[in-house]
Amino acid sequence: MARPMILDGQPFVPVIVLDDAERAVPVAEALRRGGIRCAEITLRTPAGVEAIAALRDLPDFIVGAGTVLTPEDVDRVVDAGARFVVSPGLADDVVERALALGVGVVPGVATATEVQRAVRLGLDRLKLFPAGPLGGLGLIRALAGPFPDVRFLPSGGVSAANAAGYLADPNVFAVSGSWMATRELIATGDVDAIERLSREAVAAVSP
Ligand code: 3PG
Repeated sequence: MARPMILDGQPFVPVIVLDDAERAVPVAEALRRGGIRCAEITLRTPAGVEAIAALRDLPDFIVGAGTVLTPEDVDRVVDAGARFVVSPGLADDVVERALALGVGVVPGVATATEVQRAVRLGLDRLKLFPAGPLGGLGLIRALAGPFPDVRFLPSGGVSAANAAGYLADPNVFAVSGSWMATRELIATGDVDAIERLSREAVAAVSP
């Protein structure tokens, strides 16, 4: 049985790349209107940390950080208000710093060896990255054999077309991706499209 964590109840984790931190609040509000109440703000742009800070007090919204590569990154994003951190891969020092600071941590894994190492670090929620090229649901089913208590966050190649299929798998706790808030939609300020794509994603998995 997986332990509770901050992303419980959030089936979609949008991966947000912001070129301008001032876009953070309108984008998050559009996601929220569409029924998505969290986002992973990546550190791929210099605006990332400032954007996290802009969202830390947004009501009914959980802000996290993505592309977190070092313990120093963990410190920076937690100071800014991030409540969970996501990494593309598995780095023990990043996981340990996040656990020490009491924030959610979802490192990326791509192999059984990495799952095994993450489990030894005390984790049972892991990002599968890049999920599509690695084999998607087929790989998740295969990993669920030896690791039945691990639940995955597939990321990379998740789309409106395959999100519901991933979420129907018992070893998937949420999906992440950029399709409902692409860098282009963010850059052009198309919050109506972000809201619509979010609403469609949520509707596709609602009973
Ligand atoms: C990423 O690395 O940007 C995330 O995994 C999202 O990937 P996507 O753009 O394929 O959704």
